[in-house]
Amino acid sequence: MEKLLQITTGKAKSLYTTSNPDQLIMEFRDDTSAFDGKKIEALDNKGKVNNQFNAFVMEFLSSKGIETHLIELLSSNESLVYKLDMFPIECVVRNRATGSLCKRLGVEDGLLLDPPLFEFFLKDDALGDPLINDHHIVSFGWATQEEANLMREMTLKVNDLLVDFFKEANLILVDYKLEFGMFKGKMLLADEFTPDGCRLWDKDTLTKMDKDRFRQDLGNVIETYSEVAERLGMQIKLD
Ligand SMILES: Nc1ncnc2c1ncn2[C@@H]1O[C@H](COP(=O)(O)OP(=O)(O)OP(=O)(O)O)[C@@H](O)[C@H]1O
Ligand SMILES: [Mg+2]
Repeated sequence: MEKLLQITTGKAKSLYTTSNPDQLIMEFRDDTSAFDGKKIEALDNKGKVNNQFNAFVMEFLSSKGIETHLIELLSSNESLVYKLDMFPIECVVRNRATGSLCKRLGVEDGLLLDPPLFEFFLKDDALGDPLINDHHIVSFGWATQEEANLMREMTLKVNDLLVDFFKEANLILVDYKLEFGMFKGKMLLADEFTPDGCRLWDKDTLTKMDKDRFRQDLGNVIETYSEVAERLGMQIKLD
């Protein structure tokens, strides 16, 4: 499958059309951003590690009944995906309080959240991705109530599956963000699941093993992503 036209270039990935109008090539770049694009750096091998990490997680989820946009891995840093109509919404689940939630509500960092907390955010960097609820989604027409319900249901099902998946690797899944889109009337999990869009803490030491290493200048960002991949049993190719 050949890349034709570049249709999107986001902060971390680029999307290209292919000879099949229903399919896109998603290229994972080394570019890394934080704080709504205010901090940007290229980290060697991040594109390759994240592309293969994402495929591993999406394949696991798909084996457990979550339908995703991933068709197949094409190369170390590219995947073939279905072309979706994306919802301008981020779905977040938190198993522990940290980051923006602690700032917003003044709760203690690391507080266990049981049941897990679900939140919707509007995907809009210029507005700082504001917190929204179902009423905003329906009133502004970003999705229907049924679609919002399904996004929440799928995101929480992913939580049940991934909490145990990461526990096997001695990691705590602290929180994560998912995006969804529609393909021929069906809702599919889209975008990516990588350490760029979730928080993972070592179960024993609570060491941060995700993009907070970049946000907080903790160093060894990609070495740590690779360690997570290795603990999950992945063999990452860097060629
Ligand atoms: N299967 C898909 N079909 C169409 N668009 C997709 C698909 N999967 C992901 N996308 C979109 O492609 C873009 C991916 O690029 P990237 O994640 O680098 O963007 P970004 O700069 O982070 O912007 P955003 O804040 O919108 O995610 C996102 O806008 C995402 O919503
Ligand atoms: Mg993105």
